[in-house]
Amino acid sequence: MYLQRRNRILRQSPAIRAMVAETVLTPNDFIVPLFIDEGEGVEQEIASMPGYFRRSLDGTVREVKELWGLGIRSVLLFVKSKDELKDNTGKEAWNPDGLMQRSIKAIKDAVPGLVVMTDVALDPYSSYGHDGIVENGEIVNDPTVEALVMMSLSHAAAGADWVAPSDMMDGRIGAIRQALEENNFTRTGIMAYSAKYASCFYGPFRDALDSAPGFGDKKTYQMDYANRLEAVKEALMDVEEGADIVMVKPALPYLDIIREVKNAVQVPVSAYNISGEYALIKAAAKMGWIDEDKAILETLTSIKRAGADLIATYFAKDAVKLING
Ligand code: PBG
Repeated sequence: MYLQRRNRILRQSPAIRAMVAETVLTPNDFIVPLFIDEGEGVEQEIASMPGYFRRSLDGTVREVKELWGLGIRSVLLFVKSKDELKDNTGKEAWNPDGLMQRSIKAIKDAVPGLVVMTDVALDPYSSYGHDGIVENGEIVNDPTVEALVMMSLSHAAAGADWVAPSDMMDGRIGAIRQALEENNFTRTGIMAYSAKYASCFYGPFRDALDSAPGFGDKKTYQMDYANRLEAVKEALMDVEEGADIVMVKPALPYLDIIREVKNAVQVPVSAYNISGEYALIKAAAKMGWIDEDKAILETLTSIKRAGADLIATYFAKDAVKLING
């Protein structure tokens, strides 16, 4: 046989494959979500996220030092609020002495170079478990945006480098950007959860923070998974309103959306490899049905290949260890 082109030439050894790989994961790609709890010495494994923990601040500080040592450059903070602090206004969210605000300070003190991002949404503070304020069974947009603005300002004041609104209210990016400007927080970044879908894959996360909605679902604010163009519209509007990074979430069932958004915007795109995606791999690996390490690298590489410049993932630490071999 005489063939003019033999594509397998580029695949024949690990060396040539490494030389021509189009997508390469590095520790700089990852944002590590951290679940923070009150107390001391608390290290609680999340039942539906085996191998992932909710920690009190002391353990969290140890963890971020280790992450930094591994070459990871960014964390995304979530706190579990006490039940007695939850109400319909979510006001604990902007308490200057709240767990989030104390965590930001402690983490920035421990590792000043680390890029600290914070989740901005009311659900961990809402007695209804919704991302916004509830009136007559509805999640009301504009009063919620006012609350999110106060929350963002309090995170910036505590030293957060980035705020990451995950609530999907209309107009919140513009309102937060304007408030940051007016209050002279001119170095604070906004990573907007722009295309965040109403997904069943958030379940384990809601276990971690005890933040499941008390009634109904989140479909009047999070996106319908049937839609593609709407994701582009959301991302473009968020950029217009002042987002520095736009996010697509979840990641794996939405690789097409990541690519679509990547092609449409001129800011970095992040993707959130969420709790349910983590749980799927963990469960199958536990059953002996897939090779966990290989599944992690293939999954994260595919998310980056789809167009994600950054990936928020519970696998970050495992991935970095595998990459560094
Ligand atoms: C809440 C929020 C959620 C996640 C991040 N921020 C859950 C939700 O919208 O119900 C999910 C993250 C994950 O599943 O890993 N604003």
